[in-house]
Amino acid sequence: MKKLKNKNSEKLREKVVIITGASSGIGEQVAKELIKYKAKVVLFARTEEKLNKVEQILQRKKIDTLRIVGDIKKNEDIKRIVDETLKKYGKIDVLLNNAGYGKNIDFLEQSDEDIEEMIETNVTGLIKLTKKVAKIMKKQGEGHIINMSSAIAAVPTYRFTTYCITKGAVKILSESIRNELKKSGIKVSTIYPALHDTPFCEKANINTKTFKTYKKEDLAKEIVKIMINKKKELYYPKMYGILAKLTEHSTQIKTELSKFFSRKLEESRLIEKSEIKGTRRQTNTSKTVN
Ligand SMILES: NC(=O)c1ccc[n+]([C@@H]2O[C@H](COP(=O)([O-])OP(=O)(O)OC[C@H]3O[C@@H](n4cnc5c(N)ncnc54)[C@H](OP(=O)(O)O)[C@@H]3O)[C@@H](O)[C@H]2O)c1
Repeated sequence: MKKLKNKNSEKLREKVVIITGASSGIGEQVAKELIKYKAKVVLFARTEEKLNKVEQILQRKKIDTLRIVGDIKKNEDIKRIVDETLKKYGKIDVLLNNAGYGKNIDFLEQSDEDIEEMIETNVTGLIKLTKKVAKIMKKQGEGHIINMSSAIAAVPTYRFTTYCITKGAVKILSESIRNELKKSGIKVSTIYPALHDTPFCEKANINTKTFKTYKKEDLAKEIVKIMINKKKELYYPKMYGILAKLTEHSTQIKTELSKFFSRKLEESRLIEKSEIKGTRRQTNTSKTVN
């Protein structure tokens, strides 16, 4: 068992791993998890200060890093990810397409600008970066692309309509490029997490008191395992994989689950609103509500 663990920890040594959305949450945790594996880690996100902190943690552990501050919505920043990585390391072994966000909001309430921004961030930027990186990997004759979808991609949920659309698109992207890229030695994996305890929840306006959340530390370990075994899919926790399969076979189950999650999200937002009113009166703390 120990031998297998040692063998696995060697598999990512010196590998160049790009993580988009590395400044917080799951991306940050995967970067930290890679310390044990001695990978070379490229950290990408918009917030320089947070990215610096993550980089410092890795560098203190003697991990070779490259920090790129940029916005996945911008073509020039997407280009810089590839150019700067190749300039420093001359190759790209793994791309973790993780940058993204969601919003717990009625479809009719969501502004056109927000719909556009979410699609540009979660889908368009991801597709463009994937294409650029895949071209490099094709020349290399190998590589691994890991796309962050969501468990909610299998259960379209009306409070999260645009988000579900984006995560469904990520699922389809992975499934459709997998065979095309296989010929070039490139593997494609998709991650489908349930709700995790990251800043995602607060940004999305989800009160985690009404939802069971899972630990980003556990998910990050599983994502790194996928970097090693290159499995096609990871539902985390596994139970969500079973639910996803059930929804493929039964529209009724899909509808019931969709209603359940929509109701939970609705409750979560209502509770948050009333809590905020109460909290402001009592303690004057400011919590963001979208
Ligand atoms: N947490 C969950 O429950 C959950 C469940 C399923 C799927 N996911 C997915 O997992 C991924 C990571 O989420 P998380 O939970 O770790 O949330 P998080 O803590 O909010 O992290 C999101 C990351 O994406 C970056 N990002 C957002 N917009 C960006 C942009 N335009 N350009 C570059 N970077 C950008 C953020 O950095 P900056 O703001 O500094 O740019 C941050 O590093 C997302 O794709 C999310 O949809 C999360």
